[in-house]
Amino acid sequence: MSGLLAGKRLLVTGVITDASIAFSVAKLAQENGAQVVLTGYGRLSLVERIAKRLPEPAPVIEVDVTNTEHLAGLADRVREHVDGLDGVVHSIGFAPQSCLGGGFLDAPWEDVATALHVSTFSYKSLAMAALPLMSPGSAVVGLTFDATKAWPVYDWMGVAKAGLESASRYLALHLGKQGIRSNLVAAGPLRTIAAKSIPGFDQFEDAWAERAPLGWSLTDQEPAARACLALLSDWFPATTGEIVHVDGGYHAIGS
Ligand SMILES: NC(=O)c1ccc[n+]([C@@H]2O[C@H](COP(=O)([O-])OP(=O)(O)OC[C@H]3O[C@@H](n4cnc5c(N)ncnc54)[C@H](O)[C@@H]3O)[C@@H](O)[C@H]2O)c1
Repeated sequence: MSGLLAGKRLLVTGVITDASIAFSVAKLAQENGAQVVLTGYGRLSLVERIAKRLPEPAPVIEVDVTNTEHLAGLADRVREHVDGLDGVVHSIGFAPQSCLGGGFLDAPWEDVATALHVSTFSYKSLAMAALPLMSPGSAVVGLTFDATKAWPVYDWMGVAKAGLESASRYLALHLGKQGIRSNLVAAGPLRTIAAKSIPGFDQFEDAWAERAPLGWSLTDQEPAARACLALLSDWFPATTGEIVHVDGGYHAIGS
């Protein structure tokens, strides 16, 4: 087996279509020598159908990150396919409609709580569920959308991402002693199901087209996926609590 991730065993969450960032991660990871186990949420048969489009067959385990039984059983379910994990990819986000598209001032706590549970707290819960399978050198990688700014229509999802960015630093702090890294990729806008659920998402598209110094493709998930692979590989052995921007350089430019 050759490639950047030769011999590595990965758990990849978040595949729902072949446009999912997680699908690109799983595909590239397999092409680079990794063994991939997927998790699916909700429409499992759909995830299994999409999984068949990967270069190699990948088993799919059902995981709703808000379901404590799913999390408690995760390590045993994963062990049915691999004897340990070298990497976990958290590619999960959800916020009820009230939390997005300008609803910041009116969204009720119950909806905000759902957004934070699925998009923020789950980063820690997923890592802990997988921890019994990980050993020194293993890595957790998640996806954020630059939360240092307030974006026009991102609203509570932006707050959830700010929490995720902090949670990743705390995970780095608490798992560092065990030699486990935690890093995030801050991707620019990509046309996925999650993105399409944000009313006014086209504002991001226009802004990136105008301002990203390297240019930006809204339909090419590979640059973000490549960064995930790099962070999962042995080539960032002393990097944790970091956020790597994969946004065509947008974050670095003033308007
Ligand atoms: N698309 C973008 O523009 C963009 C930019 C930056 C970061 N991101 C982040 O990338 C990650 C992946 O999103 P995507 O854009 O590939 O969209 P996507 O819709 O393809 O993936 C989102 C995934 O979250 C999963 N999910 C939702 N609720 C869940 C739950 N309770 N338990 C388990 N899984 C659940 C869905 O099943 C889906 O697979 C998210 O964290 C998203 O916020 C996306």
